[in-house]
Amino acid sequence: MPAFIATLCMAVMLVACSAPPERTDYPDMGSPLFNNYYAQCSQCHAPSLPSAHTAAEWPSVIARMQLHRIESRIPPIMAADMVRVRDYLTRYARADDN
Ligand code: HEC
Repeated sequence: MPAFIATLCMAVMLVACSAPPERTDYPDMGSPLFNNYYAQCSQCHAPSLPSAHTAAEWPSVIARMQLHRIESRIPPIMAADMVRVRDYLTRYARADDN
């Protein structure tokens, strides 16, 4: 197979594997913090926008998602990644209502 066709196939596969998220309005998209969040929270549903909850609310939501993982036999998020998921969500969380 000509080299350029092989290269083209590889490029197509790479694009397919790293398809961008459907939403394009996440804060800090493309940063390592965002990429970690996206990787950890996209197995079951589209990752929520951080503005879905306040910083005070996020930890309990994350804890509930760990339970969903266990129920679904998906290994829980490791502590270091968990801290970074929490950092991302609380940094860009919705402002407190009061
Ligand atoms: C194992 C599957 C699974 C994974 C992985 C998962 N979720 Fe969920 N998520 C669910 C299910 C099931 C619901 C609906 C039931 C509920 O709200 O607990 C849900 C609902 C939600 C909701 C809407 C309900 C609410 O309280 O606002 C948010 C926000 C959310 N998930 C955030 C996250 C975040 C953040 C992560 C990554 C830490 C994550 N999810 C990873 C299964 C999952």
